[in-house]
Amino acid sequence: MREIFVLNGPNLGRLGVREPQVYGAGTHAQLAEFCRTSGAELEMSVEVRQSDHEGELIGWLHEAADRGAAVVLNAGALTHYSYALRDAVAAHPGPVIEVHLSNTAAREDFRHTSVLTDVCVGVVAGFGFDSYRLALQAVSRLLPSGRT
Ligand code: DQA
Repeated sequence: MREIFVLNGPNLGRLGVREPQVYGAGTHAQLAEFCRTSGAELEMSVEVRQSDHEGELIGWLHEAADRGAAVVLNAGALTHYSYALRDAVAAHPGPVIEVHLSNTAAREDFRHTSVLTDVCVGVVAGFGFDSYRLALQAVSRLLPSGRT
């Protein structure tokens, strides 16, 4: 079965209590279950991880690359400035898809910059949990064994 890593960065473990008006009321545990269920519907095995630490996320990107796992990545605020994470994404053979719960383009100026977008295959932003489902559907279509 195709293996997908969903990697969530800083502060995403606080979903449900963190700015629910921006990120919704769902918790990270609920998001993880939503991703696993969405993946199963697409015949993909989804592993969800969250870390507040840049280096841990980089290690998981290396692990995904070594295992041939595609990645759905919400790097949180690291999206906007982490060249180290960008280098790890660039070194992954892909596909890596950038996701955001919120529409970053409609928020503060610093969120308009992503140092990841041009090394990812695409971006899904602004649809809450559904951003992840849409990204998983895109992965499913991109992988050679994916259903149409
Ligand atoms: C986010 C958007 C980022 O700007 C922010 O720092 C986050 C969450 C999102 O999912 O909307 O932590 O990646």
